[in-house]
Amino acid sequence: MKRLHIVSNRLPFSISFENDNPSLEPSVGGLATGMNSVYKDFEGKWIGWPGIASDTKSRKELQAVDRLLKEEGCKPVHLCEQEVEDFYEGFCNNTIWPLFHYFAQYVDFHASLWDAYINVNRKFADTILETAGQGDFVWVHDYQLMLVPQMVKSQRPDITIGFFLHIPFPSYEVFRILPWRDELLRGLLGADLIGFHTYDYQRHFLSSVRRIFGYEIVLNEVHIDGRIILVDSFPMGIDYDKFYKAALNIFHTPVKERSEVHNELEKYFLMSDGKHLILSIDRLDYSKGIPNRLRAFEKFLERNPDYRGNVTLVMLAVPSRDNVDHYKKLKSEVEELVGRINGLYGSINYTPVLYFYRSMPFQNLVELYSMCDVALITPVRDGMNLVAKEYVASRINQTGVVVVSEMAGVVKEMGEAIIINPNDEDQVAEAIQQAIEMPHSEQVRRISAMQERLRRYDVFKWAKDFVNALQKARKVQTEFLAK
Ligand code: ADP
Ligand code: G6P
Repeated sequence: MKRLHIVSNRLPFSISFENDNPSLEPSVGGLATGMNSVYKDFEGKWIGWPGIASDTKSRKELQAVDRLLKEEGCKPVHLCEQEVEDFYEGFCNNTIWPLFHYFAQYVDFHASLWDAYINVNRKFADTILETAGQGDFVWVHDYQLMLVPQMVKSQRPDITIGFFLHIPFPSYEVFRILPWRDELLRGLLGADLIGFHTYDYQRHFLSSVRRIFGYEIVLNEVHIDGRIILVDSFPMGIDYDKFYKAALNIFHTPVKERSEVHNELEKYFLMSDGKHLILSIDRLDYSKGIPNRLRAFEKFLERNPDYRGNVTLVMLAVPSRDNVDHYKKLKSEVEELVGRINGLYGSINYTPVLYFYRSMPFQNLVELYSMCDVALITPVRDGMNLVAKEYVASRINQTGVVVVSEMAGVVKEMGEAIIINPNDEDQVAEAIQQAIEMPHSEQVRRISAMQERLRRYDVFKWAKDFVNALQKARKVQTEFLAK
């Protein structure tokens, strides 16, 4: 295979500055964590934004950033403060993100934000055009860059372009709300292969293409003006072995060398028998259903006085997009709910919700996964949800229970979990009780089945399948033109 370049808005590393010196930190989010495991297998660059506003830094500082990223095989696309505001916080996260997650009431329809989206997509396309050699492959990721495939294809038909959407593609009735729906679809159709996490998202996309343009669709191929575009679903996996081995390692580490998080959790369990920890981990995002999760937990405590003092919700929320209004409001709402529950049901010895607003190193994340009895995952809409998969992979003794929302893409691969509707708080409260009371043998049966599935279709297999399909797309196109 020729070289393959990865392109995404968020690079696998974000830059932070201390005393004018830049350093790299791993980025949070499914795209970055998933692709980070596979990208070094490809010969090519990872093109993306390093997460800082370039006009707030000196030339020297930016050069230092570029050097650091180069060592990791990354090529930066720098965005200035205005672009961050209008493109990233604006059109990406205040227009497309809410619309594609069915939060139509949150969508901001400003033409100036759309202009910023075009301009920044053009910047990314130009960087690809500078970087890619004759006949290279390019794999573009996610909703921030939906115009890029067409921008590149129109100038360089020799480049084979794959596009993968990490969030849901909404139904036509929701997608059609967007004034720029035709342009977005045309942008995507510049790709040779378009991938989604689930068959439903693929179906919604094809239905929008059919209704808006009336193009001919033959099974999963779109035929337009002498081109064939393949459309398929590829449910993203995780680096299964990395989580499983890290969890195994914890138990082989002498007690004295274990982390503070681990020892604190262990102390909690040693306080008395019958203690339960429920885990909740997400970016602080309104699509993740955090307030409804908290209200359901409150209901559970209200209805089960015997469990008060014995069941704790460990809630980890990573700061995300905190300049966007709806995220700011969500933060206050979550803090208020946590305060209310702790005020109502807490005591000197008991904090019902242990709330952490921060990102955590990988090691601590695995400790939480491997020590909590239940993973409570209640998004109101989620493209996939890798946290659910990471939890299952970290259960080395095969115990543990996953409670998962039917609105998350991951549910298609988790038939053995307790599946809930996140808007039904009574049902979620009951699911918490069912999870805590589930017999060990039943937990083992369910977790083992899910582990087997996730181990087989890990992130490496996922990437391989996508790249194979991309090669097939090139072949289909070449044969079609030769006819
Ligand atoms: P999304 O992509 O919407 O953020 P996912 O659940 O698919 O949701 O992916 C989230 C990723 O971010 C996971 O790989 C998870 O390990 C990582 N992550 C989530 N919370 C934290 C945290 N507090 N610290 C570090 N990494 C986190
Ligand atoms: C989701 C999106 C990614 C994004 C991530 C983190 O996973 O699909 O494209 O990178 O969230 O969000 P952020 O805005 O910090 O990049």
